[in-house]
Amino acid sequence: MSNWTQVVELENIPLLGSRVFRSGEQEIAIFRTREGRVFALHNACPHQRGVLSEGIVHGNRVTCPLHNWVINLEDGEAQGADEGQTACFEVQVRQGIVYINL
Ligand code: FES
Repeated sequence: MSNWTQVVELENIPLLGSRVFRSGEQEIAIFRTREGRVFALHNACPHQRGVLSEGIVHGNRVTCPLHNWVINLEDGEAQGADEGQTACFEVQVRQGIVYINL
């Protein structure tokens, strides 16, 4: 089911940074990579719920600020030997506005 929701203007997400969007109880981190790609993940690390929006973005990944797990922004999966996955959301950017499919 599609529920495209306008979340932020692209220019308001810093390169290699993020913005947090709240939808009800849900907190979603919107990331922008160096190449300008945009990804949206549930704002909680699959390890111990570290705040991923405060992590370091590199390539298409973010490193959790708590214990340095590396999470793939494309599918929310922990990388390397770590196992776990956080929910991710489809993203569209239209005319400078970021939408996510909640
Ligand atoms: S909570 Fe993210 S690495 Fe531990």
